[in-house]
Amino acid sequence: MSNTPQRYTITAALPYTNGPIHIGHLAGVYVPADIYARYLRMQGNDVAFVCGSDEHGVPITIKAKKEGVTPQDIVDKYDGIIRQSFENFGISFDNYSRTTAKVHHDTASAFFKKMFKDGKFIEETTKQLYDENAGQFLADRFVIGTCPKCGNQEAYGDQCESCGTSLNATDLINPKSAITGETPTLKETRHWFLPLDQYQEWLDNWIVKGHAHDWKSNVHGQVKSWLNDGLRARAVTRDLDWGIPVPVEGGEGKVLYVWFDAPIGYISSTKEWAERENKDWEPYWKDKDTKLIHFIGKDNIVFHCIIFPVMLKAHGDFILPENVPANEFLNLEGKKLSTSKNWAVWLHEYLEEFPNQQDVLRYVLTANAPEAKDNDFTWKDFQARNNNELVAIFGNFINRVMVLTNKYYSGIVPKPNNYSKIDEQTIAELKAYPAVIASSIEKYRFREAQGELMNLARLGNKYLADEEPWKLIKTDKERVKTVMYVALQIASGLATLSEPFLPFSSRKLQQMLNFTDVESKLSGQEFSQWDKIATRDSLLPAGHQIKKAELLFSKIEDSQMQEQLDKLEATKSANAASSNKLEPQKDIATFEDFTKMDIRIGTIIEAYKMPKTKKLMVIKVDTGLNKRTIVSGIAEHYKAEEIIGKKVTVLANLAPRKLRGVESEGMILMTENSAGKLIFVNPDEDGVEPGTTIN
Ligand code: 2FM
Ligand code: ZN
Repeated sequence: MSNTPQRYTITAALPYTNGPIHIGHLAGVYVPADIYARYLRMQGNDVAFVCGSDEHGVPITIKAKKEGVTPQDIVDKYDGIIRQSFENFGISFDNYSRTTAKVHHDTASAFFKKMFKDGKFIEETTKQLYDENAGQFLADRFVIGTCPKCGNQEAYGDQCESCGTSLNATDLINPKSAITGETPTLKETRHWFLPLDQYQEWLDNWIVKGHAHDWKSNVHGQVKSWLNDGLRARAVTRDLDWGIPVPVEGGEGKVLYVWFDAPIGYISSTKEWAERENKDWEPYWKDKDTKLIHFIGKDNIVFHCIIFPVMLKAHGDFILPENVPANEFLNLEGKKLSTSKNWAVWLHEYLEEFPNQQDVLRYVLTANAPEAKDNDFTWKDFQARNNNELVAIFGNFINRVMVLTNKYYSGIVPKPNNYSKIDEQTIAELKAYPAVIASSIEKYRFREAQGELMNLARLGNKYLADEEPWKLIKTDKERVKTVMYVALQIASGLATLSEPFLPFSSRKLQQMLNFTDVESKLSGQEFSQWDKIATRDSLLPAGHQIKKAELLFSKIEDSQMQEQLDKLEATKSANAASSNKLEPQKDIATFEDFTKMDIRIGTIIEAYKMPKTKKLMVIKVDTGLNKRTIVSGIAEHYKAEEIIGKKVTVLANLAPRKLRGVESEGMILMTENSAGKLIFVNPDEDGVEPGTTIN
């Protein structure tokens, strides 16, 4: 723990605006980053904690196409939802920007131009994947194929999410266009490449050798493995129309690769903040004494440990990250979180369904943080951690202290007498906690840090349980004063030390303990809030008036958990229904079976809807053999006059059967298109997908 203020630039991965924020994002990036930023501020440091919406890139254009709206509509919608949910959840960004902002377009363009002018790019005409039907080049998420490294058949054109390898679209085996499903052709196009191979040795020295001990082993290990495989040049421009236009000659019709512009978004967001706060942004990115820390999920390691540092180094004006504490992934009830499959706990929904319970989610996500390996979120664990830890340990201790102080002393902190050994030991333990918790936070071990915070609450509970002031009050009133005074000091320590983890409860507790008043009485001491616990004689002096007890945490009932589990079940059923649309193949039919079927072409010569039915149509068909009646269930899809004169396929020798009293001799073969409309068999018709059955 140091008392010298230090400048920090803390970044949290810019979320894509193609969906809302879910618990995986929170556990992986935003909760740990927020704990870290809040802690550093409490230590008196100069902190810029920045983030913003990542609004370019292919997934956004794909979503816009699907929904028939513009990419701008999509990013406006999700930027709004995301920014509001972060605010309500108490993520304490100093600034939350967006990459469609002018400041960002200007900053990213200038960054590219400087690198271009200094000859840091290689300009090359190469053959890139092209979708003839869509009339466009395919890169990044527009192309899906097999990963050459791990065999995952759903790797994207810029990255395989299964093994984390960063790819060029042309590396994919058996590539298919995500727009049309077609196999792409190759077509020449001119682009700018970042020659990563030229920085291989530098990266090796800086990260593999230089950060073997202070970077997390998952991060260090991934970087080492990529460097072992050998780095290759990567294109940083794309033939797309959504993004930041390439700002140099020859760049017409092209945009910057989203992963080139997005990390520059950290710089633009810092500029936007500095402008608003009347500060100078430059020291936060250029002063070598500034510590730059990137909080990200593991799928972003390559971009923050290789590509962005190479950009910063090549540009030349900027500092490099001090650390990149990437987390692994969080699963939900045993399955991978997925925005497209709606397998998630969405932050904006949580905030509505669990009002004023932000800290419960923060607590559970930190207690279960995927710091060293993937972890699982379950609602059962959520409930247990709330009821057995927050309510039963933290909340219970605070409630006892508040209620007893109000009951025995009308809320006035009593004056202690002689300290027993236990009292002294307890106070000494309390004073040791700030350093213990700080040390874990500074090593990015947030679960461990929060565990220690709970140990302080446990210490308080044990102290009260051992000293039993509620019994002593009948026999030794003086002793109770000391016990309650010590317990109040622990409560006060908890109010301060919980701030980074449980900011809402911390504030509420500080208000209950009437902290503002203490601060004015004890002000003038040159310690950070965090350190004062170890250094001040008293955190809540005798004679100080506290307020009434309020509940910090409340029990979560089984019925609330059941509602969440039901919601997930509904998602499972919806996913199963949409992926199981194809009927399984029927039992094998022999050739003899097939030749038994007499399938002929016929012409519809008459048709009318059967009275008093919704679906049935009575149709007269000329089969060439004869003119016969067939009853068919198509009345909801066609009007009689529409089908007269149509040629159809008829199963002629199907055993006749009576439908609502009308004899049907045969069957007209139909299929269904993707919109659910019955159509006469014609595989070329729009929306008739492979695998659709004829019946
Ligand atoms: O993976 C993602 O969600 C990206 N939008 C993260 C970008 S981080 C940064 F570099 F901007
Ligand atoms: Zn792979």
